[in-house]
Amino acid sequence: MTTPKIELHLHLEGAAPPTLIRDLAKKRHVNLSGIFDNNGMYAFRDFGQFLKVYEAACTVLRSPEDYHALTLAVLETQAEEGAIYSEVFLCPQFCGGGDVAAWRDYVAAAQDAAALAESRFGVSLRIIATAVRHFGPDAAKRAALCAAETAGEFVTGFGLAGDEGAGRPRDFAWAFDLAREAELGLTAHAGEWGGPSSVRDTVDDLRVSRVGHGVRAVEDPALVERLARDGIVLEVCPGSNVALGVYPSWHAHPVDRLREAGVPVTISTDDPPFFHTSLSREYDLLSDAFGWDADTFAAINRTAVDAAFCDAQTKADLI
Ligand code: ADE
Ligand code: ZN
Repeated sequence: MTTPKIELHLHLEGAAPPTLIRDLAKKRHVNLSGIFDNNGMYAFRDFGQFLKVYEAACTVLRSPEDYHALTLAVLETQAEEGAIYSEVFLCPQFCGGGDVAAWRDYVAAAQDAAALAESRFGVSLRIIATAVRHFGPDAAKRAALCAAETAGEFVTGFGLAGDEGAGRPRDFAWAFDLAREAELGLTAHAGEWGGPSSVRDTVDDLRVSRVGHGVRAVEDPALVERLARDGIVLEVCPGSNVALGVYPSWHAHPVDRLREAGVPVTISTDDPPFFHTSLSREYDLLSDAFGWDADTFAAINRTAVDAAFCDAQTKADLI
């Protein structure tokens, strides 16, 4: 598939090549053998364990230099996969523990790597500063303060990831209000593990323009109609959903039904090495499962450009 790809939902730490994490663990004398399988890939049985493995991998990412290397590695892969623009989630909590001065250093490192990658590989990057739901509302407030302090051309969004079962969307409203005042684009994970009410409350209480996953909205036709009418964009990650058992197979995945119903859907990989996936694999499997052709993918990528958290000139350059 040769369509230039726009990816809106990619966790930077979740895209870390296992080799990079293993090398850092060795350098730092941290024993991470328990998080890898015999093939050297990340190993977990369910979503709870996935979050633990993810956070264990993050413990060896300790400095802005580590994030510089990570950003460059991830963007090289993005370019190989045919991406021309990526938005990645970066967590102030993992990057300096929510401290604004430390966060600035991590952002500067990522921005430096992004400039290198843009000149070397021709792929652009924007950052969505992201709170982790199960770290609680106070940590989310600190993440939002970090996001607001660095809001600009590079840090363009604020997000919420983590365990959807932890707290209610309205617990995070203060953080989202602050991010909105800083003119950041807003997105939150919902409707991955939670049902339609989780998506509805997220849209109502956090006033996001995009929802991470959001696919379980399909269980409520009135909500599907509303998402379509209001143009709420879903960042759909089918391979992630199938790998984590949200759906038993690609054929059972609702992305095509949502698209047919007029919901603006986009396609992303979430945490590609964790889910043994890549952007091109997602496109190939969507094409196999639902017969999506080059026109469908072009339309999906136009939707992604429209929904991207970047300025109008950057959007115009992507089309
Ligand atoms: N963080 C990284 N991947 C995630 C996912 N699929 N759901 C929630 N939080 C995440
Ligand atoms: Zn995600």
